[in-house]
Amino acid sequence: MILGAVTPKNQKDLRSSLHPNTIKPILDMGIDIIFESGLGEGIDVNDEVLTSLGAKSVSREACLSKSDVLMSTSPISVDEITAMKDKALFLGLMEPFSNKEQFSGFQLNNISAVSMEFIPRITRAQKMDVLSSQSNLAGYVAVIESAKELKSALPMMMTAAGTLKPATVFVIGVGVAGLQAIATAKRLGAKVEAFDTRPVVEEQVKSLGAKFVKIDLGDTGQTEQGYANELTKEQIQLQKDLQSEVCARSDIVITTAQLFGRPAPKLIDDKTIKKMKPGSVIFDMAVESGGNVEGSILDEINVINGVKVMGFSNLPSMVSDHASYALSNNFTNFISDFYCTEKKCIELDLEDEIIKSALLVHDGEILNGAFK
Ligand code: NAI
Repeated sequence: MILGAVTPKNQKDLRSSLHPNTIKPILDMGIDIIFESGLGEGIDVNDEVLTSLGAKSVSREACLSKSDVLMSTSPISVDEITAMKDKALFLGLMEPFSNKEQFSGFQLNNISAVSMEFIPRITRAQKMDVLSSQSNLAGYVAVIESAKELKSALPMMMTAAGTLKPATVFVIGVGVAGLQAIATAKRLGAKVEAFDTRPVVEEQVKSLGAKFVKIDLGDTGQTEQGYANELTKEQIQLQKDLQSEVCARSDIVITTAQLFGRPAPKLIDDKTIKKMKPGSVIFDMAVESGGNVEGSILDEINVINGVKVMGFSNLPSMVSDHASYALSNNFTNFISDFYCTEKKCIELDLEDEIIKSALLVHDGEILNGAFK
């Protein structure tokens, strides 16, 4: 079997689906590796390094037409899907909701497609979960980028010139990104508070040394799969009112609130921003899915009453080496779980829980109703 890796279409995405560390484990399975020349540029790894480890550098066209399994950190165009080998497997970040045209491309050209975004959040699949591996790094980057914009340092410093107070950071939404944002801000010495509508996360917040802000919204709970329930309009209003005091005393507010398959809830409005200190920072991690903050603009710093409201795309790419290392491990774990050494191919067991969830196109058919 030939495994190929192509560079992302978006030039701002510096990540690579193949990292030097995963080449040996893949070769040890008996799989040959080819990659598009220049693949490692975004992580400062040149073709010679990847070649010396046993992978082969080829053109993009050759990578598309020769790979039995093609890895990509972004969707590819329909023309490129047409150039793929018959019955090959596309394994990648498909961004399926915003790139629907690719589905007919896969269907018509008899290419199977696994969307790594649809790897289910179950214990067995944690090692393949690209959303978690990338959100974790994004939570870290959000703190670093916010700290850069703040005109104060984060830790307390007792100096001969006086005592510098620690910065206060408030994290709203304590999922994967939120937990890492709390941990990072704590490590940098900030005083951290956090809130989530799922009461179960209180213990996790405390175990990181942060304070869980108690906001009584009545019954919130969580779904059987562990996701947050959608709040009523009244509950959202109550949350906005009660948390605005916490925002007002914070130097940095990081919002990560997300509901599975729904637009991001708007949790910070103009009224709250007006109460905040000039020079404080709000980082809206949900800016790409509608935003948690009124006035956040993708890839811009919007200054409202002196408060810097920011939200950037592609945060994991800002730490592209670690992001690629984690992504490449996620891809390799998928391959090693489904590779059949005797038949020398990926076996797509349609009854398997992971395949059922992540295989979106197979045998000319779109399998997930949302994309038909
Ligand atoms: P997640 O699903 O693990 O966590 C979201 C959390 O929000 C959950 O704990 C949920 O209970 C909580 N939540 C929902 N409604 C809430 C409310 N009203 N108040 C407080 N908390 C609430 O999501 P994850 O992976 O941590 O991602 C967080 C956000 O970061 C998402 O919007 C995601 O799209 C974004 N993100 C952005 C990246 C970028 O490059 N810009 C990269 C990775 C993630």
